[in-house]
Amino acid sequence: MNPDHEKLCSSPDWAAYLQSEILPAVTAGIRLGQDMLEIGPGPGAATTWLSPHVASLTALEADPAAATRLAALCPDGNVTIDTGDATQMPYDDGSFDSVGSFTMLHHVPTAAAQHRILTEALRVLRPGGTLLGSDSLASNDLHHFHAGDTYNPVEPATLLVWLRTLGFSSVTITVDEVLTFTARKPSPGDDAADACESQR
Ligand SMILES: C[S@@+](CC[C@H](N)C(=O)[O-])C[C@H]1O[C@@H](n2cnc3c(N)ncnc32)[C@H](O)[C@@H]1O
Repeated sequence: MNPDHEKLCSSPDWAAYLQSEILPAVTAGIRLGQDMLEIGPGPGAATTWLSPHVASLTALEADPAAATRLAALCPDGNVTIDTGDATQMPYDDGSFDSVGSFTMLHHVPTAAAQHRILTEALRVLRPGGTLLGSDSLASNDLHHFHAGDTYNPVEPATLLVWLRTLGFSSVTITVDEVLTFTARKPSPGDDAADACESQR
């Protein structure tokens, strides 16, 4: 991140905004489950809000310095910080009940890598688990703010198509001040449940 960006993402104002405006809305009605993975936690504004909501929170951060700083912020308790790339998640299939991605996809330099991250999210989710997230929408201001930094916002329609074609179900995309999304990994019982529902 460029210095201005780093400063904003580490600020109390950013944490207050994310924690009061975004996270309660995107998690409303979602079962986060016992084991959650957060990708791209950065300074941890979402991490600190999410950790009391789950039994175990794993955060996967590509930047080793950011991962070290965040680990110092979360010394004990239920948070594990791993350094690694979300395009190649170091976790077994079906490891998590939920995967969260907040303000990180636009920092992923190519569409192929963004798509790969969603593929990995589907792989590491348990059947019935949920992917949820929020991200910035493309704008001139956002572009300028990312001078010298990666700037690759995902088009909401592209995200919808990717999630559906990867095999997620119950996809919701909301476009407002920011983009928010939820998507479910189907579970084997879904077809039978759908058949019962359609016969009602
Ligand atoms: C703008 S920060 C967002 C931080 C935090 N999620 C928030 O909303 O405040 C984006 C973070 O994603 C991380 N990141 C970018 N690409 C990544 C990847 N492929 N795997 C894991 N983390 C990544 C960056 O290092 C950075 O810390």
